[in-house]
Amino acid sequence: MTTRSLFLLPGDGIGPEAMDEVRKLIGHMNEALGSGFEVSEGLVGGSAYDAHGKSISDTDMEKALACDAVLFGAVGGPKWDSVPYDVRPEAGLLRLRKELELFANLRPAICYPALSASSSLKQELIEGLDILIVRELTGGVYFGEPKEIIDLGNGQKRAIDTQVYDTFEIERISGVAFELARTRQNRVTSMEKRNVMKSGVLWNEVVTAIHKAKYSDVTLDHMLADAGGMQLVRQPKQFDVIVTDNLFGDMLSDVAAMLTGSLGMLPSASLGAPDAKTGKRKALYEPVHGSAPDISGQGLANPIAMIASFAMCLRYSFEMVEEADRVESAIAKVLDDGLRTRDIMSDGMREVNTSTMGDAILSAFQG
Ligand code: IPM
Ligand code: MG
Repeated sequence: MTTRSLFLLPGDGIGPEAMDEVRKLIGHMNEALGSGFEVSEGLVGGSAYDAHGKSISDTDMEKALACDAVLFGAVGGPKWDSVPYDVRPEAGLLRLRKELELFANLRPAICYPALSASSSLKQELIEGLDILIVRELTGGVYFGEPKEIIDLGNGQKRAIDTQVYDTFEIERISGVAFELARTRQNRVTSMEKRNVMKSGVLWNEVVTAIHKAKYSDVTLDHMLADAGGMQLVRQPKQFDVIVTDNLFGDMLSDVAAMLTGSLGMLPSASLGAPDAKTGKRKALYEPVHGSAPDISGQGLANPIAMIASFAMCLRYSFEMVEEADRVESAIAKVLDDGLRTRDIMSDGMREVNTSTMGDAILSAFQG
């Protein structure tokens, strides 16, 4: 029997509650379909800090490096606001991204038909929306050195972050974007700030060159990232795949996520390069939403983004495309049936808690 190793890092806040709903699906798939998932679990973020003073332990890092896929919940919360910067909850996530070399972050923004009324934009603007943001995840200002605050000695301090990109980093992320565009509407929009930043100039050059050399069948547009943000709220359906750097991707993907009605709906996949021998990519799957400490522990969390992240895991790490489709259809069906967690509640719908939503998706999956 195939074994598929999954390493769960539920993290903080609503992370564990959302992960519990994925566990139900995994359990069912093992029992009823013989999917052979081997599940182990670790600590990340504030919960790891509480247990051993680090935002992820070396042992858990090793497990993350060894497994087929990591499922990640969320990290952070006010409880850890004053812990040292190096061991703050987010550092655990950044260490995972960096050491697993998860350079490609795929953030789909899909509008479920049942939710098209809950967007802050007019319904006709977002009905049928299906954008994929491909965000560079291991470079740019997140990791560039120097990164420090220095004391200038005259009562002033200076803070420095460094935006840095090498050719190969831009080449590999745009390659992922072009490949994915070919499976969709065949259009890529690259976003940077070449009018202000040298990294934007190089980004633009490299994307243009790789397009010409290898992907000229794909339609490519360039947009300044600020204009891109504006276009995302003006006419979001003009986009198919957006490729952009780490920081712009962070911001633009939050914008795109909110177009769909709730941050609680969207999954993401962070992928490494295919292994030269096995062809397998290291991968981590996580919801776009954060730990939402204000609602944690009350059964109010929307588990859909976490469950949809598991669907992405089935699709990208295990080639279980049919099962991934079924999970996504199960989510759509439950929404069509009128079930809503509080974040997406609207008139005439039935408000349910986290666990009832998870159960309903499982039963829709079972058919
Ligand atoms: C995200 C988050 C992270 C980021 C934080 C938690 C470090 O906002 O995944 O978008 O900035 O990348
Ligand atoms: Mg973010």
